[in-house]
Amino acid sequence: MKHSTTHLLGALLLPLLAAAQNSTTPSNTTSTEGLLSSESVDLGDWADAYSKAAALVAQMTNSEKITLITGGSIESVNWTALEFKDATQGPQGYEYVTGWSESSAMVTTWDRQLWYNQFKAVGLEFYGKGIQVANAPTSQPLGRTPWGGRLVETLGQDSYLNGIAFGLGTQAFTDAGIVASGKHFLLNEQETNRQSAGGVGGSSNSSSSIAPYSSNVDDKALHETYLWPFYDGVKGGMGGVMCAMTKVNGTLSCETPSLLQKLLKTELGFPGLVLPDVDGQSTAFGSANGGLDFGSSSIWSNTTLLEGINNGSLSQARLDDMAMRNVIGYYKVNLDNGTQPAFVDSSAHVDVRGNHSAIVRENGAASLVLLKNTNGALPLKAPLSMALFGSHAGPIMAGPNTVFSVSGVPDTYSGHLAGGSGSGQTSFPYLITPQQALTNRAASDGTMIRWILNNTYGATTSSTMGGGGGGIALLSGGTALTQTIPDYATGAEVCIAFINAYSGEGADRTELRNTEQDAMVTSVASECNNTVVVVNTVGARILDTWIENENVTAVVYGGLLGQESGNALMDVLYGDVNPSGRLAYTIAKNESDYNVGICETAVCNFTEGNYIDYKYFDKYNFTPRYEFGFGLSYTTFNYSDLSASITNSSALASTYPTGGLSVGGKTDLWDEVVSVSVAVANNGTVDGHEVSQLYVQYPDAADQPLRQLRGFERTLLASGESAQVTFSLRRRDLSMWDVQAQDWAVVSGDYVFSAELARGN
Ligand SMILES: *[C@@H]1O[C@H](CO)[C@@H](O)[C@H](O)[C@H]1NC(C)=O
Ligand SMILES: *[C@@H]1O[C@H](CO)[C@@H](O)[C@H](O)[C@H]1NC(C)=O
Ligand SMILES: *[C@@H]1O[C@H](CO)[C@@H](O)[C@H](O)[C@H]1NC(C)=O
Ligand SMILES: *[C@@H]1O[C@H](CO)[C@@H](O)[C@H](O)[C@H]1NC(C)=O
Ligand SMILES: *[C@@H]1O[C@H](CO)[C@@H](O)[C@H](O)[C@H]1NC(C)=O
Ligand SMILES: *[C@@H]1O[C@H](CO)[C@@H](O)[C@H](O)[C@H]1NC(C)=O
Ligand SMILES: *[C@@H]1O[C@H](CO)[C@@H](O)[C@H](O)[C@H]1NC(C)=O
Ligand SMILES: *[C@@H]1O[C@H](CO)[C@@H](O)[C@H](O)[C@H]1NC(C)=O
Ligand SMILES: *[C@@H]1O[C@H](CO)[C@@H](O)[C@H](O)[C@H]1NC(C)=O
Ligand SMILES: *[C@@H]1O[C@H](CO)[C@@H](O)[C@H](O)[C@H]1NC(C)=O
Ligand SMILES: *[C@@H]1O[C@H](CO)[C@@H](O)[C@H](O)[C@H]1NC(C)=O
Ligand SMILES: *[C@@H]1O[C@H](CO)[C@@H](O)[C@H](O)[C@H]1NC(C)=O
Repeated sequence: MKHSTTHLLGALLLPLLAAAQNSTTPSNTTSTEGLLSSESVDLGDWADAYSKAAALVAQMTNSEKITLITGGSIESVNWTALEFKDATQGPQGYEYVTGWSESSAMVTTWDRQLWYNQFKAVGLEFYGKGIQVANAPTSQPLGRTPWGGRLVETLGQDSYLNGIAFGLGTQAFTDAGIVASGKHFLLNEQETNRQSAGGVGGSSNSSSSIAPYSSNVDDKALHETYLWPFYDGVKGGMGGVMCAMTKVNGTLSCETPSLLQKLLKTELGFPGLVLPDVDGQSTAFGSANGGLDFGSSSIWSNTTLLEGINNGSLSQARLDDMAMRNVIGYYKVNLDNGTQPAFVDSSAHVDVRGNHSAIVRENGAASLVLLKNTNGALPLKAPLSMALFGSHAGPIMAGPNTVFSVSGVPDTYSGHLAGGSGSGQTSFPYLITPQQALTNRAASDGTMIRWILNNTYGATTSSTMGGGGGGIALLSGGTALTQTIPDYATGAEVCIAFINAYSGEGADRTELRNTEQDAMVTSVASECNNTVVVVNTVGARILDTWIENENVTAVVYGGLLGQESGNALMDVLYGDVNPSGRLAYTIAKNESDYNVGICETAVCNFTEGNYIDYKYFDKYNFTPRYEFGFGLSYTTFNYSDLSASITNSSALASTYPTGGLSVGGKTDLWDEVVSVSVAVANNGTVDGHEVSQLYVQYPDAADQPLRQLRGFERTLLASGESAQVTFSLRRRDLSMWDVQAQDWAVVSGDYVFSAELARGN
């Protein structure tokens, strides 16, 4: 590895005992493929739910089954239609719910327990409102292109990290008693041209005749990059999957049997229902035979489907299967146990928030990534004077709940940004801004605090300014300063510039940096030798316009943090929380360093294969500004004594998995086979969490990226304390997709394990 930014510690060669034998029976495509009743998949702990679902469906006529799969209630069997609602930030559009952070923020904590806590609490809010199915969590878009407008809603650009979070999300929702309906399946990587003309969610650029675009990806990258997290989701208990509104290999995703019947329902053993994203369904039998289980009553009318059963266009077995899949998730999460409160509409005063604000604040602070910290700039220690800059520091004029938009939003937001848009929209009961939190802190610390809550207000000094509210030398002396950004910056012990980047469903980003905001930062830094920059962004935000400016002493970088945003930022700025967030994607020096932009053609060939984000930067030796996994602390850590051992050699005795198909794929894909441990010491002066990361280099024969994340642990270490951190690797973590064999193979050879200090120096 050529990165100057990468330390490899204790690299170790580990020869695996992978089998001599290389034989497999390719899976058979039959008409019963993907049917629950085919018994090709061992349902495991779904078996009871299967029996209950079968008993219910057995009492239904075909016409009632059609009612069921089109979202109707069926009085004769006492079945009430399920309520489905967006999204990962809690019940969307509801009052008396928590204003949660976005998934792309939460994921940068790299902490399984914090992820679980948040997902569980989100799930309980759905449960408490009487909603049965959450259209969440959202694994993908995965992030083939950093311009993707919807990455704010998703779980980072690395399939392993994304998958662990996605699996915990489905497990936590299940534990909360609701059905997790994960999305989007699959390869819906950008907003541009996602939907044909006239679609509800179509952006101004999506009315083209080439929409929806078709994503074409080779089978290897399909499995190793995009399908990967869905294994975790299914294993975690996911009862629903939302298929995407786009196409794969020229056919709508929701009507593609190779995607839904073969990959999802057979290879992954998914037992639940597939429901379509907007406009995902276009034909009755294409969708029914393609694997869609829930659809529109105008396409799946009684007449059409009953006639189809008669003339052989649809099998009775498939109709029964669709009905089963619509109810099995309900039983799996015990929604039949009579405990769930009644469904209420969005304005009912049913307060489901509990103590959840504490989780929003804790996770927000834990998610923040300290990118730069020089001259001991942070943490702040009761500074005598402080000046805040930028519209992102304070409230937007009309409050935080923006109009729901599925047609795109501007690239920046004129107020404190703490939630996304479209399906990523947060419902805020309140929003603590940084200006509010820091003002309270200043009041108790005796700090003199000033602010200009605008990026351009008096951007230049008074001598060159005209009107426009800036540069009017109307007061002088006392506490009044000339109202310009440079004048407010001059003499402040610390200046904090706040910037953001906005995007959401329906349109992609048009920029990864912003001229107006960058000019503001430079303007502040021109007069303030202690300029701290706070960035809250929907995705990668290029910082190179000013990152090397010596007066920019610190950068705190994070996602959109929800209702406690200002408090979470304050916790880190003042050191009440020692930052431990780590980037879940790469921040490049230049836009042109990223290999994939927005696709403008009808067919989008994913020619980069597995090589997105750090895997691409590694392969072509691009030095990023801040690499995937990067993040500083107020303390320092020291690594030693890496060791690896095979913990289950019999599980590695064959090239291909030998276990039966179960929910989550072949059972032995999940067996722990290797354990890696490393000693980590906090050798600095303050307590802090360290996120230890394990990267694996496969043998060349596996044709894998140079290194891949295959383990991580967040550990609290007191100053002077050390601990043994252990990473447990499953068989799948050392497997590659063998296209010929159509199976996950462990290739014999040397595997190199490294626990990195991603510290950028
Ligand atoms: C494969 O399909 C054929 C029919 O197309 C069937 O005869 C055979 O039994 C199937 N094999 C397996 C292993 O399911
Ligand atoms: C119908 O289901 C509801 C719960 O959904 C239950 O309270 C009620 O007792 C059931 N009625 C009958 C007749 O089974
Ligand atoms: C019903 O299921 C929910 C969700 O799993 C659980 O919290 C509750 O305790 C259950 N109620 C009973 C009576 O078992
Ligand atoms: C639409 O796409 C074209 C390129 O195909 C681009 O130049 C234009 O800026 C886009 N418009 C919007 C509103 O996104
Ligand atoms: C799409 O086509 C490619 C190339 O033929 C193939 O490798 C891939 O498996 C196909 N994808 C699906 C979902 O069928
Ligand atoms: C099918 O017919 C039943 C009555 O026979 C009716 O209640 C239901 O609405 C119909 N469903 C659809 C999708 O047309
Ligand atoms: C910021 O200030 C400029 C004048 O310098 C004004 O034109 C603009 O509307 C202000 N922006 C906001 C969001 O208030
Ligand atoms: C920063 O500027 C202040 C005066 O505003 C000065 O006292 C201080 O020494 C400077 N710090 C550095 C590191 O240059
Ligand atoms: C840094 O700040 C000082 C004032 O403290 C200023 O004189 C100097 O020009 C600034 N440097 C840059 C690169 O803006
Ligand atoms: C996508 O790949 C196919 C098959 O290689 C090729 O025919 C087609 O021209 C490509 N399309 C684009 C837009 O690159
Ligand atoms: C802590 O360990 C790191 C990594 O080995 C090292 O660079 C640093 O100098 C150490 N700090 C102290 C105070 O020993
Ligand atoms: C298995 O054998 C096939 C055909 O000889 C070969 O292409 C493939 O790479 C082998 N797989 C492994 C994991 O060795």
